[in-house]
Amino acid sequence: MAADTSANDNANANDNDNDNDNDNDNDNSGMRRSLTSYGDRDFSLFLRKAFIKGAGYSDAALDRPVIGIANTGSAYNPCHGNAPQLIEAVSRGVMLAGGLPMAFPTISVHESFAHPTSMFLRNLMAMDTEEMIRAQPMDAVVLIGGCDKTVPAQLMGAASAGVPAIMLITGAMLTGSHRGEPVGACTDCRRYWGQFRAQQIDAAQIAAVNDRLVASVGTCAVMGTASTMACIAEAMGLTLPGGASAPAVSADRMRIAELSGAQAVQMARTRLTPDKLLTPQAFENGMRVLLAIGGSTNGIVHLAAIAGRMGLEIDLRTLDRLGRDTPVLLDLKPSGAHYMADFHRAGGMASLLRELKPLLHLDALTVTGRTLGQELEAAPPAFAQDVVRSIANPIYPQGGIAALWGNLAPGGAIIKQSAADPALMEHEGRAVVFENAQDLAERIDSPELDVAADDILVLKNIGPKGAPGMPEAGYLPIPLKLARAGVKDMLRISDGRMSGTAFGTVVLHLTPEAAVGGPLAWVRSGDRIRLSVQRRELSLLVDDAEMARRAAAEPVTPPSAERGYRRLFLASVNQADQGVDFDFLRAASGAGTVPGPAK
Ligand code: FES
Repeated sequence: MAADTSANDNANANDNDNDNDNDNDNDNSGMRRSLTSYGDRDFSLFLRKAFIKGAGYSDAALDRPVIGIANTGSAYNPCHGNAPQLIEAVSRGVMLAGGLPMAFPTISVHESFAHPTSMFLRNLMAMDTEEMIRAQPMDAVVLIGGCDKTVPAQLMGAASAGVPAIMLITGAMLTGSHRGEPVGACTDCRRYWGQFRAQQIDAAQIAAVNDRLVASVGTCAVMGTASTMACIAEAMGLTLPGGASAPAVSADRMRIAELSGAQAVQMARTRLTPDKLLTPQAFENGMRVLLAIGGSTNGIVHLAAIAGRMGLEIDLRTLDRLGRDTPVLLDLKPSGAHYMADFHRAGGMASLLRELKPLLHLDALTVTGRTLGQELEAAPPAFAQDVVRSIANPIYPQGGIAALWGNLAPGGAIIKQSAADPALMEHEGRAVVFENAQDLAERIDSPELDVAADDILVLKNIGPKGAPGMPEAGYLPIPLKLARAGVKDMLRISDGRMSGTAFGTVVLHLTPEAAVGGPLAWVRSGDRIRLSVQRRELSLLVDDAEMARRAAAEPVTPPSAERGYRRLFLASVNQADQGVDFDFLRAASGAGTVPGPAK
């Protein structure tokens, strides 16, 4: 067990059978919340109760605080394959604490079952989550999420809905094994596929690996976006202690589910709403952890989107400053060697947060009603392990992500430096440009492609509007003829994203994107580009007059669509620095920047 949750047992036991709680006397609680508009509130409640009694509920049950459980189980989402068991455990916890559990479905989004890309659907899931929380009666909600886009979508929706919410992560898959070697989606998926492309392994072996990479239901086994968002959620106090790391099929995960249900009842009673948790200090803690775990570059986009729902701006320059004194401590793939199940055995987030203590806002509130500092004091003592390093002995001396600026990215770009080749982080080379994802697919493996190992691969039009949905296509494959010659990494640049499970020298999120007329739109093959991670510089070595001439000769028309969600998306999506959220979903008024005032 990663962290002791027994303190929660006590708090919840005191609430059992407490039928006289204040909420039940409040006209706007329980089944009285969010009444359907018939012009007569009493009739609305009468009708609602009549219908729900058709499902066999008694008046005693309907008088309890109502705890919604967002069910994101789906046959299309094996990362949430334990949702039925989690719902059962959450419901048990809700009832033990005197509440009424009400599970309800929302959209579920899996990375490999979302066309054109899961990010295109994240905002739809956030809207679904927000509106279902708002439309249905619930005094608190347990959000069951795990796969990459689901946790940010749910937190965005819950932040806007304003109802007490607790995040329940589905948990990581078990680690698999291929010919005695531990494997797990999806860093190893990419590694073996790279070997297959380079003809280092044959078709029979790649087929055998395909059976071994995903050993159980649950989220990816490495520090991809799912694990990143789970760790960030726990660091921001949005899960119970220990909630990030327990494997999907473990007893620990089911216990955390039960306790999350019980805690949701407590949160309903104390009205512990998201605005009390989603403070600038909590976001800064989330950013510190993103940097210290070698987390997915997607994490910063999602943090910006969640912050935007609270009227807060994430400052990329400050993220970069935090990165300079936040070392990577977690030895997990793709930056390190271990898997999520190993992290859990090593004490999970308590082990990491204890090391990071001097850098954290310990007074930030958590879903338990106690502060992060109090939870760390209550956590089990440290023990010897080899997954979480000490600050004196880090995996990487700075944060996993560095921000870059220059005439190619006036609004910023990022690089996951902890997963990059140090030899390429100070590099100047010739651009080999692909206009869009289709152009890339058609030419990257062509024997005719004019490319050398020290060239820079540039892909345009995979940003928020360009693809659309900013797909994880920024991890451009090494051209086949170079891969077969043994080239393992090249500098790659795009306005898209990259899976958190990928590794290599990859510059992402160029802002503004090519599709809205960012400078990337006018880069040509043969131009020279300079990257200096040390100076945080990304420069196109073409003078301003020539760039202006190209822009005038080839004006950019942002894409649009005739109908449906795609029309809404293309009309409303904002850029990576604002989280790729819809402009109308951000909080109406600004509340400040993250980080907030100094500790
Ligand atoms: Fe769901 Fe990786 S595909 S977490």
